[in-house]
Amino acid sequence: MKVLMVCLGNICRSPLAEGILKSKKPDWYVDSAGTSNYHIGERPDLRSIEIARKYNIDISNQRARQFSREDFAKFDLILAMDSSNYQNILKLARSEADKEKVKLILNYAQPGLNMAVPDPYYDGGFEKVYQLLNEALDNLV
Ligand code: 4NP
Repeated sequence: MKVLMVCLGNICRSPLAEGILKSKKPDWYVDSAGTSNYHIGERPDLRSIEIARKYNIDISNQRARQFSREDFAKFDLILAMDSSNYQNILKLARSEADKEKVKLILNYAQPGLNMAVPDPYYDGGFEKVYQLLNEALDNLV
């Protein structure tokens, strides 16, 4: 199974989602990306690194990259953190098959509610983000 986590900056939410899923399924190919180009090449936000470390997950070696159209061919499942990420990913889809690969990650925790993983970049809340992602990813696996 090849899974891509996608948020806006690829420094807060999606790196954490990548780390959590890798810890649950070491044999799956898991990566993350951002819809924006704001932080390309950067390490995850220190607050994400710290919350992951609290749960014995090391995400410090990740580097941010931007989502691209080629990712539709490389991954089976593309998990968006919020509806803005979701819409921006769909804009790059070339086919219905591409679109069907894209899901809102929290629909694995609360099916059909289209809930967002709140963006913690300005206001914090990394523990809550961890708990939401962990619950959704337990259900996914
Ligand atoms: P992320 O958080 O999408 O979870 O990585 C953000 C990181 C950076 C910005 C916004 C959200 N930014 O505006 O730079």
